Amino acid sequence: MTTIGMIARRALCALAVLGLAALAQARSFDEIKKDGTIRIATEGQFSPFNYFQGSKLTGFEIDLADAVVAKMGLKTDWKALSFDALLAGLRQDRWDLVIASHGITEERSKAVTFADPHYCSGGMVVAKDPAIRTAKDLAGKVVAVQTGTTYLDNVKQVAGVKEVKNFPGDNDARSALMTGRVDAWVTDRFVALNSLAANPSGGMKIGDFLFVERIAAAVTKGNTSLVGEWNKALAAVMTDGTYQKLSTKWFNEDIRCK
Ligand code: ARG
Repeated sequence: MTTIGMIARRALCALAVLGLAALAQARSFDEIKKDGTIRIATEGQFSPFNYFQGSKLTGFEIDLADAVVAKMGLKTDWKALSFDALLAGLRQDRWDLVIASHGITEERSKAVTFADPHYCSGGMVVAKDPAIRTAKDLAGKVVAVQTGTTYLDNVKQVAGVKEVKNFPGDNDARSALMTGRVDAWVTDRFVALNSLAANPSGGMKIGDFLFVERIAAAVTKGNTSLVGEWNKALAAVMTDGTYQKLSTKWFNEDIRCK
């Protein structure tokens, strides 16, 4: 092959690679705006943040995202998937944004771009035995957590834990505690409070924070136009009274980061 032929071939190859990359590229805000609909993925198994009431997706994060999206002048196409599929799907451009109570972590920030936090909370120790309340009390105990969560990461750091049992859903981890298969469950503070209120005779006791975290939505790494517009609309919803109204409806308090 001539040198010119080889250069042409290489250029074609490079174009093909670029073309493929472009196919899997995240939609910018302008592209989403043109379409009119943003695709948002959540889990739908984390009450009261995102869950199903019968066939209806509901919860604080659903209400909040709908309000933010309305401010952005868009409609939402909701998708519900298992928790571990959510952030990975951003990279494949299967949806534009994820909102599922993800804590902002350094590790996750390598793979996705986080929005501004929409609430602050943390992982709490929940047990039936009132003597199990703190990180120290987890020594020698079997602890249930949802796979892929910050609860798992943080329980792993606690010295002396006998075993960390992983469950695909947070509800499965709670069931393990309720049925006595584990000694403790680590979950979100508001999820724990909600579970206790829903089942006051279940014998669950809420202990201390194991750690605190800031919770935010996420977009594909580097999708700055989308995250910028989301943050603007979120800030507007946080100042115009909408956030306060929704937070009070779901929690009887304002759960924004202070
Ligand atoms: N806040 C925890 C984390 O960042 C748990 C999130 C769980 N969310 C859910 N939809 N199940 O990992």
